[in-house]
Amino acid sequence: MRVMAGFVAAGLAALIVTAAVTLSGVYDVAATKPHFAIIRWWLELGMRRSVQFHAASIAVPRLGDPAQVTRGFRHVQTGCLICHSARGLPLSPTVWRLQPAAPDLAETAPTWAPNELFWIVKHGIKMTGMPAFGPTHDDQTLWNIVAFVRQLPNMTADQYQRFADEGRAAGNEHEH
Ligand code: HEC
Repeated sequence: MRVMAGFVAAGLAALIVTAAVTLSGVYDVAATKPHFAIIRWWLELGMRRSVQFHAASIAVPRLGDPAQVTRGFRHVQTGCLICHSARGLPLSPTVWRLQPAAPDLAETAPTWAPNELFWIVKHGIKMTGMPAFGPTHDDQTLWNIVAFVRQLPNMTADQYQRFADEGRAAGNEHEH
């Protein structure tokens, strides 16, 4: 009984402290500084678990034939590389200051399963700058994007450049 009472008291105290900090306004929401490391870690953990949970039932089609990857590249170039770097491509100074910043796609892609990447691109992530592409893109297009993003980590800068050149040569069909 005494142990239970202790837990309840500790829980209440934590709630009161959280409410006090929140309502006082002392927590700094400025984007010039990142969250405290522990808050960032907590939010990331929640984000990762949420994506894993919601993406678990998505069946992954066959991915990665070259035509599909090329189609995916065009969308990634116009739709994602505004905010995300890929293989160290330079970004506009405005999006560097997103907080949290959009990670390099070549670095983050291997940390997600294909169904999770699909879910992220389709639904976006609340309270970050990550938009949902589902409302404007069909699933086939979203899988093309996933197919390209999955290839990024193994792509040399030269191979990447070739995609960019082929995209331009194909007349940039203004897809995004
Ligand atoms: C308007 C800016 C913006 C655009 C456009 C955008 N993203 Fe994002 N993206 C973000 C931000 C900000 C995050 C959140 C980063 C975080 O929480 O650490 C994010 C998160 C992600 C993540 C999860 C990364 C991680 O591990 O934290 C993936 C994967 C991703 N984006 C892929 C894409 C793809 C693919 C596209 C194009 C179809 C795209 N994004 C377009 C801003 C953008």
